[in-house]
Amino acid sequence: MSIKTYADKDIQSTLITQERLQERVREMGAEITQRFREQPPIMVCILKGAFVFFADLIRSVDLPIRIDFMAASSYGDGTVSTGEVHVVKDLPMDITGQNIMLVEDIIDSGRTLAYLKRLLESRNAKKVYITTLLDKPSRRVVDLKPDFCGFSIPDSFVIGYGLDYAEKYRNLPEIGILSPDSI
Ligand code: IMP
Ligand code: MG
Repeated sequence: MSIKTYADKDIQSTLITQERLQERVREMGAEITQRFREQPPIMVCILKGAFVFFADLIRSVDLPIRIDFMAASSYGDGTVSTGEVHVVKDLPMDITGQNIMLVEDIIDSGRTLAYLKRLLESRNAKKVYITTLLDKPSRRVVDLKPDFCGFSIPDSFVIGYGLDYAEKYRNLPEIGILSPDSI
């Protein structure tokens, strides 16, 4: 039984509870705080999926970070990647010499982040780091490893805590596995 009744029939099971999410995100914030004391990164939220995670994560980082947003799309409304990446919203500032921390909801094929990482490296960022809440390593088609990862998960389609299926379910407070009947 999920917390939002409208989604009960669409969730096969809860994968990560609200409590576990909060606990892990706080740990990740503490790790990032430790690691970037010398040069706090510009933390970049990859819209839309990462926005809930990002809002919690940045409040657990005890450093004078700057934040910004990018949007990329590699998916249509389905559950399978098209393989094409489009930058829909770009960073407004010069990032020369800056540490950049890309914050993503989930890494699947790895194409989206591999593309964005290369793009920002080509703009002479000092280093581009990757934080992801979720990782599905078994689905990778390009060589990409996150620097910080919340949870490695099996290959099921998940929703909630910012993640969508066809733009729905982003407001669920936990991560659930989408029922195959709802696809
Ligand atoms: P990649 O480029 O294949 O790594 O795709 C990453 C993007 O696919 C994420 O930012 C999500 O928007 C989407 N995605 C991949 N797996 C899932 C999932 O299980 N639930 C919701 N979105 C997903
Ligand atoms: Mg998405």
